[in-house]
Amino acid sequence: MQADLERILFDEATIHRRLDELAARISHDYRDRELTVIAILNGSVILAADLLRRIPLPLKLDCLSVASYHGGVKPSGDLVFRQVPPPDVAGRHVLVLDDILDSGVTLASIREKLETAGPLSVRICVLLAKKKIRAQAIDPDYVGFEIADEFVIGYGLDYMERYRNLPCIGVLRKDLIAPAA
Ligand code: IMP
Ligand code: MG
Repeated sequence: MQADLERILFDEATIHRRLDELAARISHDYRDRELTVIAILNGSVILAADLLRRIPLPLKLDCLSVASYHGGVKPSGDLVFRQVPPPDVAGRHVLVLDDILDSGVTLASIREKLETAGPLSVRICVLLAKKKIRAQAIDPDYVGFEIADEFVIGYGLDYMERYRNLPCIGVLRKDLIAPAA
C-alpha cells in the first residue's frame, strides 16, 4: 500500500502527537459538560478510536453513515443518509468527528440535519482540512492538520474504499486515480 503513495504527509507518530494536543483541548473545553460524539462513518473510525481514548471524560458515542463520493475523487454534491433515524441529539452537546473537510458539503448537511433535532451545541472536529474555497462555508472548531488541495489516503481515508488501514496519511499517486467518467 505504501508503494501507492506519491509522498507521505504525516506519519503515525506525528498523527498521534497531534491527537494528544486535540484531545487535551477537547477535554478542557468539555470538562463540565457531557459530550456526545458523532463519528461520521467510515472515514472517521480510526480517528475516533485513537482520539476518544485520549479524552478522559464521560461521553456518548454515536455514528452516522453518509456518502457523497460514490467511488470517485470529486464530491457529487448529493448526500445520502444511510442510517435512519439519525442519532437523537436533543439536549446534548454534540461534537461531530470527520476525517477531512473538503468542499464542506458533507459537514454542512450534517450540521443542518443535527441542528433541527434541538442539540444544546454542535461543534466540528476534523483531522484534516483542505486549504481551498469551499462550496459550503464551514469553520471547524478543532482541526488536526491543514493540507493543500490534494487527494489523500490512509488513517481512515479511502480511495474506492481501499487504504483506510494505512497507519500514515499520504498523497495517492496520480496514475492510480481513474479518470472521471
Ligand atoms: P466534502 O463534503 O467535500 O467536504 O467531503 C468530505 C468527505 O469526502 C470526507 O468525509 C471524505 O470521506 C471524502 N474526501 C474528501 N477529500 C478526500 C481525500 O482527499 N481523500 C479521501 N477522501 C476524501
Ligand atoms: Mg470517503
